[in-house]
Amino acid sequence: MIWHEFKIPEHEGVSSIQVNGKKLCLVYQSGQPYITGTKCPHAGADLSQGWCEDGKLICPFHRHGFDIKTGRGNPGQGNYINTYPVKQENGSWYVGITKPWWKIF
Ligand code: FES
Repeated sequence: MIWHEFKIPEHEGVSSIQVNGKKLCLVYQSGQPYITGTKCPHAGADLSQGWCEDGKLICPFHRHGFDIKTGRGNPGQGNYINTYPVKQENGSWYVGITKPWWKIF
């Protein structure tokens, strides 16, 4: 596991971050950051353009929902997104990446 530092945005919501030159989706909710992949498994929309509702990241295209903790799609969707562990250390936030970069996106 390699830990990469990232910055928390000023406001809560869904945005994107660059980690090692790659784009990840950052959901900042109730003071806690969650990090997922950006590509919707349904038809490839950018999930960082979506929004968060009841603990679900909602895709802006056709509104598939994904659990921000587990990445699991809503019942009936049969899909999921990758999620990545985060930790806070000495006032900084880090996201843990385990897979090789070419298999993540
Ligand atoms: S592309 Fe995300 S729900 Fe269709």
